[in-house]
Amino acid sequence: MVKQNILKTLHENCVSGEDIASKLDISKEEVLDQIESLKDDGYVIELSGKEGYCLKETPNLLLPYELKRNLETEFMGHEVHYFKKVDSTNEVAKQLAEEGSPEGTLVVAESQSRGRGRRGKKWVSPEGGVWMSMILRPEIPPMNAPQLTLVTGVAVAETLKNECKLDVGIKWPNDILIGDKKVCGILTEVSATLDKVDYVVVGIGIDLNVDVDLFPPELRNGATSLKIELEREIQSVKLVQKFLLNFERIYGEFKEGKFPEILKEWRILSKTIGNYVEVHKRGRTVKGEAVGINKDGILILELEDGTLNKIISGECVHIKK
Ligand code: BTN
Repeated sequence: MVKQNILKTLHENCVSGEDIASKLDISKEEVLDQIESLKDDGYVIELSGKEGYCLKETPNLLLPYELKRNLETEFMGHEVHYFKKVDSTNEVAKQLAEEGSPEGTLVVAESQSRGRGRRGKKWVSPEGGVWMSMILRPEIPPMNAPQLTLVTGVAVAETLKNECKLDVGIKWPNDILIGDKKVCGILTEVSATLDKVDYVVVGIGIDLNVDVDLFPPELRNGATSLKIELEREIQSVKLVQKFLLNFERIYGEFKEGKFPEILKEWRILSKTIGNYVEVHKRGRTVKGEAVGINKDGILILELEDGTLNKIISGECVHIKK
């Protein structure tokens, strides 16, 4: 808390150690310690005889204080758990949810040692990406919980589109693409009893400032990052704040029963509908034209012989015909 108050003061003005000490009612030694600790976090703070301590640079990290500063949401991101390195933010979020953390809690990490993707895949999560998980507690039937993946996809895609003005779209069910390359994945995990959702953890991985050339060869071609597309470093805090605000609004609509309206938006953002696709599931492959998704978010394929096939889940690959 002391650290946050010092930061708040420094964000407003340059200030002397003495003034910080008297304002926060702490000793000058503690001010020094806290300033050193802020420098360790990556803040660039300079001391000049005339002005005192001046904040020159804020690190491009999702530090809780920075995330909460100027955050306009009502509940999303009001509790933030930050880690430099963690196994998987989804795992931490599930643990916190079991312990009772409220709806809107966010777990963020600079890197993950065992990031998890869909279908049991590993998710490469080096420094520079946004690796985060949200805890949600919607009062919905468990069978509707997977819809939250599509809801989140719309919120991510809209945020990236508005903030970065790129050709952003969604590949069914939940990959966010720029052009035809993946920039973000979403992993939704649900804890429920027969008739009630206890909590949902939605994990989001955005390749923000990562260098995809360092990814394993099999992932390199299909992946991109915002930094590559925009040819500049992206500020993670502002982007995540915008996302949280968008997500809170769309999630609010979802809880009011407006999933059909959200699906309309999903269809507009979809890069899958109208494409020829292969869907792989448990060693089987189904091929056809993706002609739509139905009211439950299920993909409808028209096969070669003209029959329609409903695909509930699977790995979807866009193919050129
Ligand atoms: C996918 O396979 O497309 C989903 C990837 C989801 C990755 C994110 S990164 C943050 C969160 N923690 C994890 O271990 N996975 C999700």
